Amino acid sequence: MGQVIELKHPLVKHHMASLRDKHTPPHIFRDLVRRLTLLLTYEATAKLPLQPIEVETPLTTAKCKVLGARIGLVPILRAGLGMSGAVQELIPQAEVWHLGFYRDESTLKPVEYYQKFSEHPPELALVLDPMLATGGSACEGVEMVKRWGVEHVSMLCVIAAPEGIEKLSKTHPDVDIFACAIDERLNENAYIVPGLGDAGDRIFNTLQR
Ligand code: PRP
Ligand code: URA
Repeated sequence: MGQVIELKHPLVKHHMASLRDKHTPPHIFRDLVRRLTLLLTYEATAKLPLQPIEVETPLTTAKCKVLGARIGLVPILRAGLGMSGAVQELIPQAEVWHLGFYRDESTLKPVEYYQKFSEHPPELALVLDPMLATGGSACEGVEMVKRWGVEHVSMLCVIAAPEGIEKLSKTHPDVDIFACAIDERLNENAYIVPGLGDAGDRIFNTLQR
């Protein structure tokens, strides 16, 4: 059974306050998403499999451990791109495979417009999207990653709504969900409340003026 993990760390709470603030400009917003994703990745990778190796130190041989599986990062365009660089900082050897969805604002269903997967899937994948709202995009993204052949999938988001968590957990009960914050609810337009607004627009400075 997948777990739902909301980060409780004081640094997460601290950076979330600035992230939510409507006065935070895009360049700071991007930096905050990066910082929060580093903290999220630390938590979400706690059980990654390791394999033993021996390393020559200047003094002797040390028994060490290194990551033992091929790891794929699957950012959901656009907003997931705000997270992928931070995960790569901690897992430089991770492969990055992109999925493009936008949410049709009348039906609220995800519309796929891009997919780039290889013939040989990684053993485990981290699906990245800052916002888990209705859960439509995440469910579709995870479904595509599983159909590709990935056995272990985790979902990493900055803010999750209870509605999105419920949908993703019911559709994919084996998937762990990591979130910096679980918010109260969705509003009538399926935006997360209190939320942070539109993550993609705030990352890419494309808010309608
Ligand atoms: C946002 C967000 C998720 C989706 C979440 O993307 O980044 O992908 O909405 O909503 P859901 O859980 O109800 O599916 P959006 O459609 O705004 O596209 P963008 O990332 O290109 O801005
Ligand atoms: N997508 C966003 O970017 N924000 C929300 O609150 C919901 C969906």
